Amino acid sequence: MSDPTGAGPTIDWPALRAAAVAMTDRSYAPYSQVRVGAAALTADGRVVTGCNVENASAGIGICAEVNLCGHLVAAGGGRLVALSVVAGDGKPLSPCGRCRQFLYEFGGPELLVERDGGVVTLGELLPDAFGPDDLPRRAG
Ligand code: THU
Repeated sequence: MSDPTGAGPTIDWPALRAAAVAMTDRSYAPYSQVRVGAAALTADGRVVTGCNVENASAGIGICAEVNLCGHLVAAGGGRLVALSVVAGDGKPLSPCGRCRQFLYEFGGPELLVERDGGVVTLGELLPDAFGPDDLPRRAG
């Protein structure tokens, strides 16, 4: 998926969605039964994935998107450019508020997010976000 022209990787949405669907099989969701899978394309053409991981201590489970961000960092880091999140029914799932903030850290407002019937930017899903650039501006 990488693009030597420097224009960024080509986004193969069906492949990204398939990777997200595959991750729903890895989901650990014995409490909610909502199996969530996420897959994202990085600026250098890699695909990173994640699934939700629940816990007997209700409330401390992690979402698929947060897990994905952890995998990105553990794999050496990078920028997210396109994201697909699906539930066990294979249809796009709208990232929750905490996930939007988490994704903003690694994708910023330009991150493309697949929706049912289209693609939106993370900036549209999380307008006027607080992000890493705000820290040096507001310190002191
Ligand atoms: N979940 C995600 O993985 N991502 C979201 O953006 C929304 C919700 C998970 C959390 C929990 O394991 C299950 O879906 C039901 O809320």
